[in-house]
Amino acid sequence: MPSRSEALFNRAKKVIPGGVSSPVRFYEPFPFFVSSALGSKLTTADHKTCIDYCMGYGAIVLGHSYPSVIDSVRSQLDKGTLFCTPSEKEVLLCESISKLVPCAEMVRLVNTGSEATMHAIRLSRAFTKKKKVIKFDGCYHGAYDYVLVKAGSGAATVPSSEGVLEETSSHTLVVPYNDSAGLERTIERNPDVACVIIEPVLANMGLILPDRNYLNEVRSITRQKDVVLIFDEVVTGFRLGLGGAGEFFGVKPDIATFAKALGNGFPIAAIAGRAEIMQQLSPSGSVYQASTFAGNAISVTASMSCLGALMEAKNSIYPQMSRMCDSVTATLRDEAEDLKLNCVVNSIGSMYQLFFTSDKVRDASGARKSDQAKFRRLYDYLLKDGVFIPPSQFETCFLSYSHSEDDCDRTVEAYRNALGKIRDDKV
Ligand SMILES: Cc1ncc(COP(=O)(O)O)c(C=O)c1O
Repeated sequence: MPSRSEALFNRAKKVIPGGVSSPVRFYEPFPFFVSSALGSKLTTADHKTCIDYCMGYGAIVLGHSYPSVIDSVRSQLDKGTLFCTPSEKEVLLCESISKLVPCAEMVRLVNTGSEATMHAIRLSRAFTKKKKVIKFDGCYHGAYDYVLVKAGSGAATVPSSEGVLEETSSHTLVVPYNDSAGLERTIERNPDVACVIIEPVLANMGLILPDRNYLNEVRSITRQKDVVLIFDEVVTGFRLGLGGAGEFFGVKPDIATFAKALGNGFPIAAIAGRAEIMQQLSPSGSVYQASTFAGNAISVTASMSCLGALMEAKNSIYPQMSRMCDSVTATLRDEAEDLKLNCVVNSIGSMYQLFFTSDKVRDASGARKSDQAKFRRLYDYLLKDGVFIPPSQFETCFLSYSHSEDDCDRTVEAYRNALGKIRDDKV
């Protein structure tokens, strides 16, 4: 008899292209379906519980169904969900973001990371009166035309997308991550560059950290050349710390974009940045950006409650997540070494990823050299042992504030078993 997940997938395929609502959710032969999520755990449609390290691809920073967030949303439900006219809570939320994020002189709320980066690019083009965009190999900024060029995440495993006009993507230049000389050369050869958009920590090609001083170099090159610097903090915002990667690395971009951890699982995103750039947004300026659901009462309430919880316990939340992540990743490195498996484990704060390769992974081409077949077996073995990691080498694993010491012990044990089997597999 097929499992309930398999039966649901067979039904899904008939009405949903590929059976999933977003391509990264598919893997062979079919993904498990989830019936509920609480704290650090997911319960599947087949009544199996697993420890989650996907955590909404980084969105769930506090934990699934975090009580204070859920309580505040529940009480807002009785007071309305969508007003499409301003409310005090939007002002309060944007004031909080502005206080927490060093570059955020002004803030505009949107719904998704893609919307945030798309309008940040439009703003940069209007501000500089220039056309071209520089992005980095492996960075993912959303699924729309300007940035779907050498992108990471789900797009890392497909060559490119049909339907993206060459006329559009030809304005997007791609340079390697962690190569400031390459960036400088590209800007010098292309005087028409409006902006450089970067994931300050590359979390969509596995996890790749910026070399020491790299982000400072990117900042000074862009400043010298009058190019707008956009930090895409959709993953790092409110996860690396309350002030995101900008504060963590002490580098101030002109614009930063946020989503994921801003709402602990509710759909909300933000564009934040220097006032003289942000003021160009309509209606104060002539850069059009609009959305029916932007600033809706439910997402704003969830976000205020999420930021409230993060602010209240910032001295325990961030250190606790980092300590647990450091302890898991240190053990993984030791295990791999004991087993004589060539592995690299990159980690920062509450994020990590393991690559089956012997060389340092400091850019997308390094990540592509890792053994993806081994990674696939790692995924399968871990899932059998009740640990769910994103099913792709080109994603990042995330801890939340709800992960416990016991979760981490069980996770390390599951990796130990999985790595042992991978060493012994006759493949
Ligand atoms: C760094 C980054 N930017 C932008 C996006 C797009 O966000 P969304 O899926 O909310 O449109 C993502 C999504 O994973 C992301 O990781």
